[in-house]
Amino acid sequence: MLTAPRINGRFTQLLLLAAVLLILSILFYANADAIHIPESVSLKAPVKSRPHHPIDDLIEEADRQQEDLLQKESHTLADAVRAYEDRRGRRPPPGFDVWYHFAQDNNALVIEDFFDRVYHDLNPFWAIPAHTIRQQAGDIFHRISVRNGNTSQLSDQQRPWLDLWENMIGSISQHLPDLDMPINVMDESRVVVPWETIDEYMTAEEKTRHIVPASEVVRKFGKTSVSKDEKVPAFDPQWEGGPYWDRAVIGCHPNSPARSYKAEVDYSVFPPLNNSYPEKSHEGYVANWTYVKQPCEHPQLQGLHGTFVEPISISNSKKLMPLFGGSKLPMNNEILLPPAMYWTTDPFYSGGDDHGHEWHKKTNKIIWRGAASGGRNKDTTWARFQRHRFVSMMNSTSIARAEENGKQPNFELPEPGQYDLPSGSLAKWVGESADAAFVHLLCFPDTRPPFCDYDDAFYEVKPSMPMGEQYNYKYLPDIDGNSFSGRYRGFLGSTSLPIKATIYDEWHDSRMMPWKHFVPMDNTFVDIYGIMHYFFNGRDAAAKRIALEGKKWTETVLRREDMQVYVFRLLLEYARVCDDEREKLGWVSEMEGILLADSHG
Ligand SMILES: *[C@@H]1O[C@H](CO)[C@@H](O)[C@H](O)[C@H]1NC(C)=O
Ligand SMILES: *[C@@H]1O[C@H](CO)[C@@H](O)[C@H](O)[C@H]1NC(C)=O
Ligand SMILES: *[C@@H]1O[C@H](CO)[C@@H](O)[C@H](O)[C@H]1NC(C)=O
Ligand SMILES: *[C@@H]1O[C@H](CO)[C@@H](O)[C@H](O)[C@H]1NC(C)=O
Repeated sequence: MLTAPRINGRFTQLLLLAAVLLILSILFYANADAIHIPESVSLKAPVKSRPHHPIDDLIEEADRQQEDLLQKESHTLADAVRAYEDRRGRRPPPGFDVWYHFAQDNNALVIEDFFDRVYHDLNPFWAIPAHTIRQQAGDIFHRISVRNGNTSQLSDQQRPWLDLWENMIGSISQHLPDLDMPINVMDESRVVVPWETIDEYMTAEEKTRHIVPASEVVRKFGKTSVSKDEKVPAFDPQWEGGPYWDRAVIGCHPNSPARSYKAEVDYSVFPPLNNSYPEKSHEGYVANWTYVKQPCEHPQLQGLHGTFVEPISISNSKKLMPLFGGSKLPMNNEILLPPAMYWTTDPFYSGGDDHGHEWHKKTNKIIWRGAASGGRNKDTTWARFQRHRFVSMMNSTSIARAEENGKQPNFELPEPGQYDLPSGSLAKWVGESADAAFVHLLCFPDTRPPFCDYDDAFYEVKPSMPMGEQYNYKYLPDIDGNSFSGRYRGFLGSTSLPIKATIYDEWHDSRMMPWKHFVPMDNTFVDIYGIMHYFFNGRDAAAKRIALEGKKWTETVLRREDMQVYVFRLLLEYARVCDDEREKLGWVSEMEGILLADSHG
């Protein structure tokens, strides 16, 4: 389970307290002759300079959770082994000591929770025979291989992402056994195994979990990849196309809302949006980031996200196979690597080394520039795409029209009074506070690029703006494109404040804390005006603090070295599930080894 804010307990307490106060006050009024505000209640409360805001609670809770997390740091190899065994229920894999020293030499913060994603992704493979995994891995096209500590790739053409990943793996391959790693070269994620099957696999994995007695441990990797002369039986993943939603929801829990949701087919009607506060939110704001990102829990995303409306390409398998990629939906079964875009030094994705002006010199606005991607948008469907929705919601003309005559084609405004928004015109202050525009409308068919017959009336095409220049603005919203947004790591390290909405999982999810290192946003964006109003009205210091703490944390746990440490750990574990002796393979400390040698005389 990935980390998510645990605030329900506290809320329950607050709710109880509120209920008790309510009952007491009802009793009080019932006994009073006349209804008046009793002085003892109304006047003694300390007068705060600023009313309490729900986002204050969320920030406080995130601070607390971050402190708890930091307490878990391992400072020695023995600490790391203990943390590993407690959390994973096995011995660490062979090479764990080399891994730990690599992390130490690279000043990496070692907290076992940071690697939860590795186990989430790999555990189901314990239910598949090791030789089957090796054979699949040696048979799927597009792959990176490690042999004798060197890497190589198999591809049909020059592919920049593949080159970057090979470079990433090459930087640690001297420490790895032989491996084959099939790589997803598409933008979209591609494996969804039925939830029931994965559940069975996870149960099977749990049964293999135990601490093998030192005397029985196999300490060296054996066969972890197919040999050249070995005949690989052709593995057929049975890639299938077709609408993605139906393929994706088989990965959801049988009782989840998505499993029984009837997919929309007519996207020309108004999208499934309303202005009630999102479920399980804290007065409208994101309280559980894992929940917010989960389409299984939010079936209306079927009609609100390009991934489900119409992705550019669909080629999906229901079979569990080792396929590595940079991002995936929560219901996908790929094995996550840090995205190649995060490994590149190309300023187009990384934003370069320039972090923009100092906070107080940055323009006090939201800036967003990007293409109208997210999938293949058409005249009957564009109003369902996330980037279109966001750009419209930042457009003062569109907001003014919505304020005058109700609905716009692709968004709905909060009611006055919701989100503590000021009464009067949203259009005016959002217009003054936001600058969001497309650089290319990417319509289909794309006859007049970058313009678009059906969207020209709604969107102005503006020149693109390098990321380094965007960093001269305080607020950086980040919205999914065809899959995850490759700018995110750059944004996190920029000194400006990222405001993030996504349905995609990434390698770093268990190390980035919402409201501590970035501002989380609902995928409907219904909370964006509240978020803006909070930070633009007297909470500039809070925005600056999250921006700078996010940057500092990014420079602590999202460095290239941290990606190496992650991939090193991931591939030791991957090698173990590929090895026939996997149930006995493990690392034994020198001390245990000596004791063992002694006991054998
Ligand atoms: C690894 O590659 C290097 C350079 O390509 C080569 O010199 C070396 O012999 C290779 N090592 C092995 C063990 O194949
Ligand atoms: C508003 O939409 C949410 C999903 O986003 C849904 O759960 C809720 O029932 C809707 N509320 C109303 C009043 O339609
Ligand atoms: C957060 O949401 C996830 C996914 O729905 C759920 O498993 C988890 O229990 C939730 N956490 C809390 C504290 O409610
Ligand atoms: C804002 O909306 C208006 C009307 O829909 C449109 O004409 C204008 O081009 C939009 N501006 C941007 C930056 O997209």
